[in-house]
Amino acid sequence: MLLEGKVAVVTGASSGLGRETAKLFAAEGAKVVVADVVDEAGEQVADEIRAGGGEATYVHTDVRLTAEVDNAVDVAERTHGRLDVMVANAGIMGRGSFIPGESVTDEEWAKVMDVNLHGVFRCFRAAIPALRRAGGGAMCATSSTTSVYGALYQAVYSATKGGINALVRALAVELAPEKIRVNAICPGAMPTNIGQSFARSAEEMAKLMEPRSNLPEKPRMARQLQDTLDMAKVHLFFCSDLAAHITGECMVVDHGYSMWNGL
Ligand SMILES: NC(=O)c1ccc[n+]([C@@H]2O[C@H](COP(=O)([O-])OP(=O)(O)OC[C@H]3O[C@@H](n4cnc5c(N)ncnc54)[C@H](O)[C@@H]3O)[C@@H](O)[C@H]2O)c1
Repeated sequence: MLLEGKVAVVTGASSGLGRETAKLFAAEGAKVVVADVVDEAGEQVADEIRAGGGEATYVHTDVRLTAEVDNAVDVAERTHGRLDVMVANAGIMGRGSFIPGESVTDEEWAKVMDVNLHGVFRCFRAAIPALRRAGGGAMCATSSTTSVYGALYQAVYSATKGGINALVRALAVELAPEKIRVNAICPGAMPTNIGQSFARSAEEMAKLMEPRSNLPEKPRMARQLQDTLDMAKVHLFFCSDLAAHITGECMVVDHGYSMWNGL
């Protein structure tokens, strides 16, 4: 097992990629702190892990609140003895997504920044002293392909993810001497609940995309949705000793979609 004896915090673990990552890490031997704001679903993830013979604790953790993020790390150390891995995964798109950049309000900008970018920073900041106490460890954020190419009508979301990549590289250099590795995965589109946070109807989306409707489609093969379990395996790779020599990497995982130039 790749995480035998390790203790991990996974944020945004009540749903989607975070849920899959928490369950995979537990199956690979980790004790997992399941951190989220949706308590019932989060408790259920922890229950499922325990029912499968693993160890897990759900902790209500709003990544916008320093005290709650610090508490999740405290729980890892107090309940499970140490912290070896932090997966800073919680994220939203918000009503500021899928609208023209000039229409994003200060409130929407601040809200998405606070969860996606500042939230990842709070998780990393809380984890560093605990990882140091454990003699080293791994942190991995969930970024996005929108951090590396121009994503239509996703100004604020893309900016948060680009910020994550820069943060990852800065901390990777800073923490390498202490054997604390910092990486990010940049997923393509996955079928999760994140669409609920921007809630645009099919008609609204079609109208928004109308001026672009004559552009060539990328090939169907490259457009397929990414499976959340396959994506969780990339978090597992970065957080395990398989990636012992990798830090500061922001890896695109999108089946070649952003690589293809459309020709
Ligand atoms: N779904 C995609 O297409 C896609 C693509 C690239 C990157 N991502 C990223 O993947 C990550 C996981 O998203 P997902 O697609 O699984 O979506 P999801 O909505 O299914 O899961 C996100 C989880 O984050 C939690 N969350 C939201 N705000 C929070 C807060 N303030 N504090 C703590 N938890 C909070 C939600 O309750 C939810 O459980 C996000 O960072 C997202 O930006 C998603």
